[in-house]
Amino acid sequence: MDFQEALSEFISFAGRIDSKDHRSKFFQWLSENIKDLQNEKRLPLDATLSSETIICPLVGPNSDCNATNTIHVDAFLYDDDLLDSLVEDGKLSRSYCKDCGSKNTSPLNFVSHSASIPRLRVIFQEILPDLTGKVVLDIGSRLGPVLYGAYYYSNAARIIGIEINQEFVQLQSQVVQGKGFTDRIEVIHGDICQRADILKAANVIVLNNVFEFFVSPENHVKIWQFLRREINPGTLLVTIPSLEEEFAALNTGIVLGSWVKPLPPCNPGMIDDYEELEVSEVKLYQVL
Ligand SMILES: C[S@@+](CC[C@H](N)C(=O)[O-])C[C@H]1O[C@@H](n2cnc3c(N)ncnc32)[C@H](O)[C@@H]1O
Repeated sequence: MDFQEALSEFISFAGRIDSKDHRSKFFQWLSENIKDLQNEKRLPLDATLSSETIICPLVGPNSDCNATNTIHVDAFLYDDDLLDSLVEDGKLSRSYCKDCGSKNTSPLNFVSHSASIPRLRVIFQEILPDLTGKVVLDIGSRLGPVLYGAYYYSNAARIIGIEINQEFVQLQSQVVQGKGFTDRIEVIHGDICQRADILKAANVIVLNNVFEFFVSPENHVKIWQFLRREINPGTLLVTIPSLEEEFAALNTGIVLGSWVKPLPPCNPGMIDDYEELEVSEVKLYQVL
């Protein structure tokens, strides 16, 4: 529908609200939420951008992913209930036809490039220690969930996101400014390999599968070698997947045991089954 059609439908819709009081509540709600409604339109359903290149990995646990059998479903934007309703409404499929026209279907791989809200709670409330006064860095901050999670679930003094894609940086900056998070969150546009200074300023670095779908295997190895060289001893690393799993498919030459020490979750508390899965996937290390 074009603008004129949208306008006349809107006027007719607003006219059907059945009392002055309800109409006034509706317009009040609209004025408070209009920015969020507009923001929803900024991303397509799969929350990827034409300005980024997503590379299906050739090695490692996700090397079975390809353009036919994989869809990108952002776990920060869509929880399980929302996913179910997208499938029910026919906007998303859980399987693909292997043999067009037949009933021979296979389940699609769902890949999220963002941390879910339960994962963020687990990271900042169960796994990491008290972060009062500390600096948190999220490498590859994308839509910004780790930054918002650190803001809500921790007392970190400074929360920095670095993201190589300019459009995602703009999106995060709009959220950070719009929600009034600028007192603690800073979003930087850049390649982490050019910013050893930020690595060195951080007490905690979050790496949520940053490189697997975004860089070639050769660059992937070079980036880890750079991180190995530049990150200060004592820094806490939160990684998904574990470094052991990540390095199994890469020839980094890094001896994990001489670089990092695995640590157990600092504040394990009451968690449900879903969060237990999250805890099992999120690993904490201290750089030696
Ligand atoms: C899997 S997403 C991580 C999203 C976010 N950290 C989270 O947990 O929700 C990885 C992001 O890293 C970005 N990225 C990849 N290589 C990068 C680099 N060298 N420097 C900065 N960002 C990078 C990608 O553009 C992508 O948006």
